[in-house]
Order: sequence, then structure tokens, then C-alpha cells
Amino acid sequence: MEISEVAWTDEDRVRRFAAVRESVRASDQPWGHPVLASRTAAMLRHGWDGEPALGLLASVDGVDVAAAEYEVTTYDNRHLAWLTVEVHPAHRRRGHGTSIVEALLDRARAEGRTSAGGTSWDSGPARAFAAAHGFEVGLVEVNRRQVLAAVDPGVLEQLHADALGHAGDYLLERRSGATPAADLAALAELTAAINDAPAGDLDMEDEAFPPERVAAYERAWLDRGDRLLRVVARHRASGEPAGQTVVVVEGERPEIAEQHDTSVARAHRGHRLGLLLKTEMVRWLAEAEPQVSTIDTWNAESNGHMVGVNELLGYQVLGRALHWQRRI
Ligand SMILES: CC(C)(COP(=O)(O)OP(=O)(O)OC[C@H]1O[C@@H](n2cnc3c(N)ncnc32)[C@H](O)[C@@H]1OP(=O)(O)O)[C@@H](O)C(=O)NCCC(=O)NCCS
Repeated sequence: MEISEVAWTDEDRVRRFAAVRESVRASDQPWGHPVLASRTAAMLRHGWDGEPALGLLASVDGVDVAAAEYEVTTYDNRHLAWLTVEVHPAHRRRGHGTSIVEALLDRARAEGRTSAGGTSWDSGPARAFAAAHGFEVGLVEVNRRQVLAAVDPGVLEQLHADALGHAGDYLLERRSGATPAADLAALAELTAAINDAPAGDLDMEDEAFPPERVAAYERAWLDRGDRLLRVVARHRASGEPAGQTVVVVEGERPEIAEQHDTSVARAHRGHRLGLLLKTEMVRWLAEAEPQVSTIDTWNAESNGHMVGVNELLGYQVLGRALHWQRRI
């Protein structure tokens, strides 16, 4: 097996890497949006927040059999490497997944990492494979989708009005694009509230959000050509940002949107801000991005508050994912 790096600038290798990922998606995640080479190149270039994963293509006798990623961050969790292994459905159960995991674990050890993680859909093969390699489930997450045409505008307005009734101390702000430098420090502090989302049994420390990371995150999505919409709830008396929700609309397929963080700072919980922010986002999208048809979101299965809000808004379950981890 030859395992080699995929540079985002190498069009041919990106296309081959994306083709393997698309075959895996069609087999294991039929509800997912097709994997495009253009977005794959952008993911390899920008990552989530400017620290992209290393993309790897595995071939045997000139045939592409698997795609993999190796991801680390410099901001926090320096003990950890996150691995993604996707074997083409036509080439499974021949030891390819094992060869790749072993190569990635060697790389992580060589870098001094002491823990490795990975994510899979909850399937028999993934469970058997992960267990065979000594990984244990640390967190279960659920992927849900909201179909905007199915949201009754009357129900949405009622939910919004009900939430407003509990949130009289707060103002809502709609902000698109990059955050002005002067607002980044306060936004970074608010962003850290995401660390209160359940992390299950994963051996992970809180994520660090210095202002430059928040700016890098925004740039990573805007530089893809996507649109970034952020609703912030501001506490009237103190002027503090109290909560936020972020949705990214794809530039290339603007009917597709993805929910990023929704979080409310601890001091401001209990005022229905979660529901208020998310209903406001749907109202804003209807005005500013009326072509958006779906929003996909991820939540820890145990995150009762956020899941409750999403269920009120009509989100339906697509799939259940397992986050695996082991010491190395
Ligand atoms: C999980 C996945 C990576 C396995 O790749 P693979 O190349 O088929 O795995 P291997 O051939 O190296 O299998 C190694 C061991 O895993 C277990 N395993 C793998 N697939 C299995 C299956 N379908 N049923 C039962 N056990 C399985 C077995 O113990 C196997 O050893 P064996 O063949 O000697 O019995 C592949 O199915 C895949 O890409 N799935 C989609 C993405 C994913 O879930 N990735 C897992 C991230 S943890």
C-alpha cells in the first residue's frame, strides 16, 4: 500500500481523494450531501479554523482504496491526534483500514501524542474495527436536519414570541461576515461557552479560543466562498454578548446550510436564549437566504437542552455517530 499526502493545490489527487470519500458517503451516509472536489480542496486548504487536517490517499497497485485524515491542533489538546479512515466500500475487509490506522498511530506516537481519537457512524463494521484496534466509545453524537419548507411560519413566530417573553433583558443582533477586530475579544470569550457542551468520556481538555482563533475560523469559511451568519444576544444592562448561534451557507450550493456553534454564556442561561437565537436565525435566513432548504446540525446525544430546542424546530434525526479514543 502506498499512502501519500494530498496537497490542496494538486487537482488530480484532490479529485481522486474526493472520489473515494464520495463512494464512502454514498454507502454509509446516503442522506449526506455529495462530496465535491472543490469543497474537498477548500477543506484541505482551510480546515475548520485555519489548521487543516492532513489528507492522505491510500492506493494499492495504482487503485485508490482509501482516504484518510490526520488532524491535530496547536491551540489545545496537544496530547491528541484525530484520525479519519475511510475505506472504499469495494475494498473493505482486506486489511487496508488496519494498515492505515497503524501508519497514523505511528505518526502520532512519533509526534509525541499520547492519545488518538476517531469518528465513525454507528455501524457493526465500524464498531468491530474500532474495537479490534483498541478504541473505546467516548461520546455519542446525533446528526439532525431541519427542512425549512417544513417549518410552519406561524409556529416559528409563536416559538419566537414565547422565547422573547422570557428574554426581555436581551437584544438580538444579526451579523454577517467577519467580526470587526474590536469585537473579537468579547466574542472569543462567548465562544468558549461551547466547552460546556457534553464531552462524554472523551479525554479532552477544554478548547482554547483566543481571539485570533475566532478570526481564523471566520476566515476559513469566508475564504471558501461560504456565507457566515451569526445571531448574537446582547445583555441590555451590561452590554455583554450573552449568546450566539452561527450558520454557514455554502457558496457553491447555497441551498445547503450547516449549523455551527450555538452557545449561551453560563451567567445568561435559563432565559430561553437558545430557542430565541435559533428562531431568529430561521427568520433571518427566510429574508436573506430564502433559497436555503436544509440546515444540518450535530449534538451530543446527551445534550438535552440543545436537542429539545432542535426538536421544537422540527429537526429530524439522520444518523448516530461514535467518537472513539484510545491511549497510544
Ligand atoms: C471501518 C473500516 C475503516 C474498516 O476498514 P477495512 O479495511 O475493511 O478494515 P480491516 O480489513 O483492516 O479490518 C480489521 C478488523 O476490523 C474488524 N472488521 C472490519 N470490518 C468488519 C465487518 N464488516 N464486520 C466485522 N468485523 C469487521 C475485523 O475484526 C477485522 O479483522 P478481520 O478481517 O481479521 O476479522 C471501513 O469499514 C470503513 O471505511 N467504514 C466507513 C468509515 C468508518 O467507519 N471508519 C472507522 C473510523 S473508527
